[in-house]
Amino acid sequence: MTRIINIANRLPLTIGEEIVESSGGVVSALEGVRRDYDMIWVGWPGKVTADRKDQQDIENLLARKYNCLPVFLNKDEITGYYYGFSNSTLWPLLHYRSYYIRYRQDWWRQYRRVNQKFTDVILKIAKEDDVIWVHDYQLMLVPQMLKQSGRNLKVGFFLHTPFPSYEVFRCHPQRKELLAGVLGADLIGFQTFGYMRHFRSSTMRLLGAECDSMVVRCGDRKCHMGVFPIGANVQSFQAEFKTSRFRKKLADFKKIYKRKKVILSVERLDYSKGIIRKLDVIDRFLTKWHDKNNIVFIFISIPSRDEVPEYAQLKANVESMIGRLNGKHATVENTPIHFIYKSVDFTELCALYRLADVAMVTPLMDGMNLVAKEFVACRPDFTGALILSEFTGAANELFQAFIVNPYDIDTVAESLELAINAQQDDIKRRMRGMYERVAQFDAKYWAGKFINELGKLEIEDTSIQKEADVRNELVKRVKKSRKMVFFLDYDGTLCDLQNDPDKAGPDEQVKQLLEALSCKKNIDTFLISGRRGSELEKWFGKYNVTLIAEHGFSYHSPQSNRWLKSVRNVDLSWKKSVRKIFEQYVGTTQGSFIEEKTSSIVWHYRMADPEFGLLNAQQLMAMLQDMLSNLPVEVRHGKKIIEVSSMQANKGLALMRFAGGKSKYDFILCAGDDQTDESMFKLADRRLFKIKIGQGQSNAEFRIDSPKEFVNILLGAIRNVR
Ligand code: UDP
Ligand code: G6P
Repeated sequence: MTRIINIANRLPLTIGEEIVESSGGVVSALEGVRRDYDMIWVGWPGKVTADRKDQQDIENLLARKYNCLPVFLNKDEITGYYYGFSNSTLWPLLHYRSYYIRYRQDWWRQYRRVNQKFTDVILKIAKEDDVIWVHDYQLMLVPQMLKQSGRNLKVGFFLHTPFPSYEVFRCHPQRKELLAGVLGADLIGFQTFGYMRHFRSSTMRLLGAECDSMVVRCGDRKCHMGVFPIGANVQSFQAEFKTSRFRKKLADFKKIYKRKKVILSVERLDYSKGIIRKLDVIDRFLTKWHDKNNIVFIFISIPSRDEVPEYAQLKANVESMIGRLNGKHATVENTPIHFIYKSVDFTELCALYRLADVAMVTPLMDGMNLVAKEFVACRPDFTGALILSEFTGAANELFQAFIVNPYDIDTVAESLELAINAQQDDIKRRMRGMYERVAQFDAKYWAGKFINELGKLEIEDTSIQKEADVRNELVKRVKKSRKMVFFLDYDGTLCDLQNDPDKAGPDEQVKQLLEALSCKKNIDTFLISGRRGSELEKWFGKYNVTLIAEHGFSYHSPQSNRWLKSVRNVDLSWKKSVRKIFEQYVGTTQGSFIEEKTSSIVWHYRMADPEFGLLNAQQLMAMLQDMLSNLPVEVRHGKKIIEVSSMQANKGLALMRFAGGKSKYDFILCAGDDQTDESMFKLADRRLFKIKIGQGQSNAEFRIDSPKEFVNILLGAIRNVR
């Protein structure tokens, strides 16, 4: 069985004066799953002594009894990483509470340091076949740090919280670093499609990533994304129902709350949960409710992050508000709000879920909300009403609940009344649908699906040899050859792609390379590009190299000093109609423009909104493919461009013309970065040495990550050639 290394900020146990179960959704979902796998859990055991001997004892105990590996944090790390960066900067940002965001540079330093600490612990134990599963916003840099270690590890990341819209996420000072951190993962999981869409959009806008619906490509990374809504730990609840302690607890509660309507709230004391507004709803509701003796609100607030000032303030506000409301609405016989500020034990929780007439789950924003699913899981008899905020991930699935907007206090109060007075068959109908779903798609299903999908992924491009091999092999082949020819693409191969193609002129290193190549008697060099001849001539006319323009359509050799066509009788009659369509798209896609060459026409959308540009490009592609299918043209969706070009010219044909057959060359190097270069890479000739620059599938046999490295390697390889 594949071993899973599970990394979450919190271990399932928190070690203090005594050992207690940790709270929160991540722990409860994974707790029910881990016994099904060979799973070791790496995480923080809570605030523990700095004494090395004590730590060793804790480590031994956790390993022996719980299969957990602790990452100990010191006081500064807890302040900076946990209370600071994770819960005072990231948490409010991810939950759209921008006004709560506080940020300090030293927190960021601690966040990086602790992410590295987790990474180091993982690297110490990880073996090649392990699957590594990183959880949540506290550890966003770990996937990248793991990949940077150079180890061939399969890494998944799951975000339990929402991912906010780009407009919100962009406010974060470290927005780019955080995204790049997550992109270290091979599979990134989200609770809902909405969060995934926001993440994807942020990577496109902030990192210039190329995305299709479920894949992000950024630099040399290819990451898969997916929607995996977390489920409740249904089996644990079902097992608990069978115990006598549960039956007794439920019977006790029924006696205590006899003849009362019970409305239940369970949540960490967190501003994202909408507690103050919920109390407003209760106030509004009780003001109108006819029988103040027959109703009780059981209000469980689990202590959370109490050293963060906003949480401490919330606690004070909640306590004072509950005091005020109880004073206002109490009778001699009844106190309406029963406030419990502590964790409840599991049996009590199950009994409360089973007892309540209504559960009120009204967060202002929540990644999923397991309490809602757990309440449903505890109603196999299809009783009980659920009031559920539309701003929870769960609302996407539990649509038969009484869905409310928690900001609309009056309407939520009305929904509460409706839920309390609902007909039994209405309650049953709603709960049946929700129960079936929750029981089927539980925590096991969630984990199984994620782990399975991660396991199935091929880590990209192991088939193409990388840099170290290229350097050695190239030097060897160059040394052995008598007469060589190089076909070098320019943009993306010798120089990085630029937003403005006019700014992509050669830098000093490229000039040095071209000067060196110009003097080599045994090397003929061809710069082979999609650009127009005039552009190439402006930058490269002075070198002793042949320029091939428009993917092979025309060429310019230093000897003839003029442009000649490589192909005769080219049919270009299609250009006019293509131009007309391109013009329509320029009109509707701000930032896009047309470039017209002799043998092709290009629509550029690099400067357009990345998502809108891509959407329109996909539409345009479909239209062109349909319209041009019988014509001698090639339609290509390249890097932020759509190009329609004559099929009668391509780079492969050009290479054949100048170096194919029985040519004088005994070594042919070709290098390129995009789809147009594949026509060279597809050629079969033993003399060919094919190098792909950058990521993506390719027919080349070697790969180099960036133009800079390629130029460097080439300079080194030709140093001793005459
Ligand atoms: N829970 C808990 N201690 C309690 C009561 C409940 O740990 O005293 C659990 C509850 O069963 C649920 C989790 O806390 O699984 C809360 O998860 P949810 O997704 O609702 O919110 P989160 O706290 O993760 O934001
Ligand atoms: C949420 C977060 C979890 C976190 C839990 C409890 O569910 O997504 O990552 O573990 O709250 O919060 P805590 O700060 O106590 O770990």
